[in-house]
Amino acid sequence: MCGIVGYIGSQEAEELLLTGLKRLEYRGYDSAGLATVDDAALHVQKQEGKVDDLRSSLNGASVAGTTGIGHTRWATHGAPNDVNAHPHVSSDGAFALVHNGIIENHGAIKERLEEKGYAFQSETDTEVLVKLIEEVKRATDLSLPEAVRQALTQVVGAYGIAVVSREDPDLLIAARNGSPLILGVGDDEYFVGSDAAPLVEHTRQVVYLEDGEMATLRHSGYEVTTIDNEPLKKEVHELEWSLGEIEKGGYDHFMLKEIMEQPDALEDAMRGRVRPEDNQIHLGGLHGHWDQLREADRIVIAACGTSWHAGLVGEYLIESASRVPVEVEYASEFRYRDPVLREGDVVLVISQSGETADTLAAVREAHSKGIPCFGICNVVGSTIARETDAGVYLHAGPEIGVASTKAFTAQVTVLSMIALKLAEGRTLSKAELADNIRALAGVPDKVRRVLNASNGALQSMAHTYRYASNFLYLGRGYNFPVALEGALKLKEISYIHAEGYPAAEMKHGPIALIDRSMPVVFMAMKDSTYDKVLSNIEEVAAREGSVIAITDDKDAELESLCEAVVEIPQTKEFLSPLLTVIPLQLLSYHIAVLRGCHVDQPRNLAKSVTVE
Ligand code: F6R
Repeated sequence: MCGIVGYIGSQEAEELLLTGLKRLEYRGYDSAGLATVDDAALHVQKQEGKVDDLRSSLNGASVAGTTGIGHTRWATHGAPNDVNAHPHVSSDGAFALVHNGIIENHGAIKERLEEKGYAFQSETDTEVLVKLIEEVKRATDLSLPEAVRQALTQVVGAYGIAVVSREDPDLLIAARNGSPLILGVGDDEYFVGSDAAPLVEHTRQVVYLEDGEMATLRHSGYEVTTIDNEPLKKEVHELEWSLGEIEKGGYDHFMLKEIMEQPDALEDAMRGRVRPEDNQIHLGGLHGHWDQLREADRIVIAACGTSWHAGLVGEYLIESASRVPVEVEYASEFRYRDPVLREGDVVLVISQSGETADTLAAVREAHSKGIPCFGICNVVGSTIARETDAGVYLHAGPEIGVASTKAFTAQVTVLSMIALKLAEGRTLSKAELADNIRALAGVPDKVRRVLNASNGALQSMAHTYRYASNFLYLGRGYNFPVALEGALKLKEISYIHAEGYPAAEMKHGPIALIDRSMPVVFMAMKDSTYDKVLSNIEEVAAREGSVIAITDDKDAELESLCEAVVEIPQTKEFLSPLLTVIPLQLLSYHIAVLRGCHVDQPRNLAKSVTVE
């Protein structure tokens, strides 16, 4: 949520910053800006709109300097306009700052500063921080890094910041508390990024800043200290991502690329872990914790959005495999309601980015109550991955499209592995376990078949349904969370209102909405729920609703009731979400494209929600 990039080295910073911002645009895209310093001058360019608008606004004029910072914004305080765009500059024009996060006590600080005569141009909390640093510097005559440090001790809230100064072109300051920041270590050049995306093409060596840490970068090197000025020796890590993975690779949109990558992503998630050859599930990240999970009184899963939907599938998977009770919580609720957690409980958080503020708070809530907390994350080295006691990486590769697709299927794949591991010697015989492991290993190929067989049909179907104003998604059992996920995918990228329900709940209210203008998407797999789902389909058809069915067995009866049927391969019931969700992702994608929506950057959204 909001992207920060910074550079100090021997190259001109402008192009590096603009390219970095473009790579970060998925984190926020309502305004963008940059600041560079050279020869005691600070050059600032910022404006409403996307990074391409910022580039055009430069109109060929170069913003000189080999030190600089850039920002792409997702507005929290103040409308997305030129004035509120970052960087924000001190009143004396000496330094510029970009900020991710929220300064919660900005109101009180602003009042204090106004009393001292400071005037504010923007509506942002960031400008308040800039002027607070300015005031500390003025009142104490400290160096800029010292003034930043002291100002940050007065701030309540979350921040990731980067600062440059015309008074010291050989200086780039970065600090974090609650908003991720990474340093990239190159050859005599250094980078700052709110994630790895702007760094990978320059360096693989990174340093993760932790909360309460500040870095001072110069051409000659960098130092990291705590905000209280304790020097730190930070480990340099090797990045896993490659440049190819964060580019579109010939696809029109990252979302389509990521949908199509799912067979590979699932194979990567299972590589070395799902082993039909010796009938084993091997998840090194949870080694030594299996008894704790099997013997837990309760597993509490906390997550947000699509990851929460994966968690719901996880509830079905883990309860049926291990008979350990599972509860799934919205992390945003969990953190604020003083949840009852007792000895014997285990918390499991799920987060693609590993940076979602509410999910991170759930980790801290569990720890504060002495409860072990495990994580399922995609981004290696992310804050949640580092703060959880143990966990499993998805290895799905970077997900850039704001609408999550391959992370969902990889999360469900990892949850299936966990469930099978918990079932070992408990609910499944050796032969049943072997059968299920083989079935799981066979999923990527089936996903490939769904993609190949149904993409064209779903694209045509999108022409029929693109004008609908509402959609219902219905499924039962393992496919109830898929109904929720299908509805979320459609609404977030096409702006069509959509609801997901357990199919049987339809008659307790939503059936009142059904008429001939209401498309209803059913997951109608020939499993233990099929007969009941068929009755629900009949109820919709009787009211002239347009039924679209996703099924693994297209028979005449089903076809006679449906306007469209998408057939997918058969698989075991517990694995069906991994297949049923694919046509729903594609349908949403094609409808959004036909409606002219900005698929990778839907309005008002941003990847990685690092504010509460
Ligand atoms: C929807 C979507 C969001 C995220 C949610 C959690 O397509 O992407 O709902 O799933 O913001 O994000 P992570 O998984 O990064 O914690």
